[in-house]
Amino acid sequence: MEARTTAETVHQAEANKATAIGRDAFTSSLGVIAATLGSAIGLGNIWKFPSLTGANGGAAFIVIYLLSTLFVGLPVMISEVMMGRKAKADAVTTMQKLAPNRVPWWLIGAAGALAAFLIMGFYTEVAGWVFAYIFKALSGNILSTNPEQTGAAFTSLITDPAQSLIWQWVVLAVVGIIIALGVSKGIEAVTKRLMPILFGILLIVCVRSLTLPGAAAGLAFLFQPDFSKVTAGVVLTAMGLSFFKLSVGMGTMITYGSYFRDDQNIPTTTLRVMLADLSVSILAGIAIFPAVFAFGFKPDAGPSLLFITIPAVFASMPLGGVFMVLFFVLAAIAATGAMLSLLEVPVAFLADRTRMTRTQATVLTVILLAVVGSAAALSNSVLADFKPFGMVAFDLYDFATSNVLLPVGGFFIAVFVGWVWGYDQVKQALTNNGMLHNERVVKAFFGVTKFVTPVLVLIVLLRGLKII
Ligand code: PHE
Repeated sequence: MEARTTAETVHQAEANKATAIGRDAFTSSLGVIAATLGSAIGLGNIWKFPSLTGANGGAAFIVIYLLSTLFVGLPVMISEVMMGRKAKADAVTTMQKLAPNRVPWWLIGAAGALAAFLIMGFYTEVAGWVFAYIFKALSGNILSTNPEQTGAAFTSLITDPAQSLIWQWVVLAVVGIIIALGVSKGIEAVTKRLMPILFGILLIVCVRSLTLPGAAAGLAFLFQPDFSKVTAGVVLTAMGLSFFKLSVGMGTMITYGSYFRDDQNIPTTTLRVMLADLSVSILAGIAIFPAVFAFGFKPDAGPSLLFITIPAVFASMPLGGVFMVLFFVLAAIAATGAMLSLLEVPVAFLADRTRMTRTQATVLTVILLAVVGSAAALSNSVLADFKPFGMVAFDLYDFATSNVLLPVGGFFIAVFVGWVWGYDQVKQALTNNGMLHNERVVKAFFGVTKFVTPVLVLIVLLRGLKII
């Protein structure tokens, strides 16, 4: 007991050494929003949200996802940003600084770093397909209205080990270079330029989809709930998606929070990010489903929706080649902003806590990611029969993070804020030391985070995993 306490005191002393002095940060309020939104918007909106909605009952799934975003995702997001800004440190160090000595709360930060690796493992692979598809769309060689042909093209990409690995490395190199440039000159500068482009392209593709004859059936699918497909597993999937979407439960928002300005209004900023992210998901649904129905394709194509159905849908419309290039550029932009925040979690930790420079930390992390990610990249070829827990690495990484690690992390973060940190600290942090007059918002947030969020997460998690 004694020894452990001493070890932990040393830990905390180390944590305190990693001070805020000289730390890079976001420079403007707009930059804060762009970077945070860049993290939230990603393949989650364009790949996961539409395919999960398609497979799990359309609007009914969206309703559950919405509730979960309000009562679980958003409170955890506010909590994380607030804690990161207070400690001005990476996720592990933040927990060490804020938590009492004897309880190993820093494990949440450590589990978060693990989650960041696993998410990056499969995320870089999907992003690799997206990058590859920009070029395939440009050359016109996936432009077929026959899903069997687009399916064959997709299969030949993902079952080729060399292509899979190389595209993953291209993605890692792009993201690594931006991260090495720094928080303000890399993350902030890039997301500030890319976010407006993303919204612009999305609107163009939506208009195209909505003006197709027969588009209404797609809208009905998106907005008319059918609750018959909803099971405990579906509810867990919706909740996992809300964690994944807002990049919470694993320290990303703690890390980004540490770069927030002290005068930033955290509740309004996070609410805006949440609403903008939600709009992008809904707009992605509007860009996809009306077109899918208009050309008589099936909506419940699962994860391959993006790479098999969508190209066939585009090929069916006039000027489809142009829209297809735009669409995959959009997906690449979205994925890049999200991967920046994933990579930043371990890089910030290494830069805060070791003697490594930011560039060294980035290179080391990228190399480790290439190793972890290769298992996912090869899941459809050489490692197709390697199935720990009955899933190939690609699916395992996805399941373990969205459905286990993120909810567990979110649960502990809510418990920490509600039951350990307490109201007075929260009020100070969220009113910017009394500068903002938002006591009602703070009270509502605190009540939900203390009582509602942990209970909901626990029930959904245990039921969804069939533990109760
Ligand atoms: N929010 C991102 C998306 O929807 C994914 C992500 C998860 C990013 C966790 C960072 C942390 O694509």
